Amino acid sequence: MKNFKFKNPTKILFGKNQIENIKKEIQKDAKVLMLYGGGSIKKNGIYEQVNNALKDHDVIEFGGIPANPEYAVLLKALEVIKKENITYLLAVGGGSVIDGTKFLSAAAVFEGNDPWEILSKNIPTRKGMPFGTVLTLPATGSEMNSGAVITRAETREKRTMGGTGLFPVFSVLDPLVIHSIPPRQLANGIADAFTHVLEQYLTYPVGAYLQDRFAESILQTLIEVAPKIMEDPSDYTAASNFMWSCTLALNGLISQGVPTDWAVHAMGHELTALFGIDHARTLAVIAPGHYRFNLESKKEKLAQYAGRVWNITEGTTREKAIAAIERTEAFFNELGIDTKLSQYTNEYEGTAELISKRFTERGWLGLGEHQNLKPKDVEEIVKMAY
Ligand code: NZQ
Ligand code: ZN
Repeated sequence: MKNFKFKNPTKILFGKNQIENIKKEIQKDAKVLMLYGGGSIKKNGIYEQVNNALKDHDVIEFGGIPANPEYAVLLKALEVIKKENITYLLAVGGGSVIDGTKFLSAAAVFEGNDPWEILSKNIPTRKGMPFGTVLTLPATGSEMNSGAVITRAETREKRTMGGTGLFPVFSVLDPLVIHSIPPRQLANGIADAFTHVLEQYLTYPVGAYLQDRFAESILQTLIEVAPKIMEDPSDYTAASNFMWSCTLALNGLISQGVPTDWAVHAMGHELTALFGIDHARTLAVIAPGHYRFNLESKKEKLAQYAGRVWNITEGTTREKAIAAIERTEAFFNELGIDTKLSQYTNEYEGTAELISKRFTERGWLGLGEHQNLKPKDVEEIVKMAY
């Protein structure tokens, strides 16, 4: 196991009707900006619950943050923060609203002239404006981590940011919110969390037995609850296990002391930026080819995953590894997720070269757990996804 330092300061309020408790988490003298997305919270009662909880606080709101939070929209929210002397942010939504709020938390205290530099120059935020979250869609883990991904339509870019100052102060995880999530987003949530675990687990063995078993148990739980939650999102047992699995998949716990990959996400973000494909679906498109391309360096962990998670025990290490990749792709398909780029767009020719060129221009030296994947390899992997 590698050395590590681990700190995750986010307080979790988990369970039924926890939304009302946010009033105790936000200081009475705070000037709060409540941020939300396209309006789902107004249909499912969450908006009302949040407003009731904060009726004795000074709150104004900013709605309309789109999926894949758009920089131009966030700049408008930033103006509100400055004009209204906001001191506290409250994100009520899925990964997009929470990530948008993280950008605002950073931008509100940013001393440079151009807040895009937080993303383009990857400037870490050590202390942002404090914010809490009410999670409405289990998927990204953004509710308990310090990263964010922001889209800029103008330049067709999707860039990452983060810093130790961008953990939410608190996050409400009430599984009752899941009942109104449409099937497409439920499938996305399962596939995203599943791939988060794979990115931190399918590397090479370092003798981190516990981290491996944490990872495998999250994968097994997601596999167990997937059909139940797709069938009935108001099944509370399935919903609570789904929600907590998604959070633990990307709150830092399972990555301590082990190598991590994240190449699937890096390539996937480009597919969202270029074609607007849902985040989770880009991962399902890239992952099978990525694991096939890197079979040699990943085969031990792939075979372990085959046996422990999918009960594939026959064959050589290599055969088990290949079978596990096939089973993973089938799992995405069972969720109703297509795993080929050509199923999402007819204009895929040239995508691999374009993504590889973008990575070269950004000066990326290498992707993957060995940092040895060059832009040329990225080109091959993306072509395998056509
Ligand atoms: O906008 P509204 O109207 O609220 O509708 C949303 C949106 O259309 C809807 N929704 C959310 N909760 C709902 C609901 N509909 C009904 N009932 C509810 N309870 O779902 C749609 C998608 O929401 P979004 O927030 O975009 O989805 P998700 O949580 O999957 O977030 C995706 C974004 O997070 C980034 C992705 O790149 C993408 O931009 N990620 C963030 C990460 C992080 N910060 O750690 C890691 C991830 O790998 C990912 O990159
Ligand atoms: Zn993801």
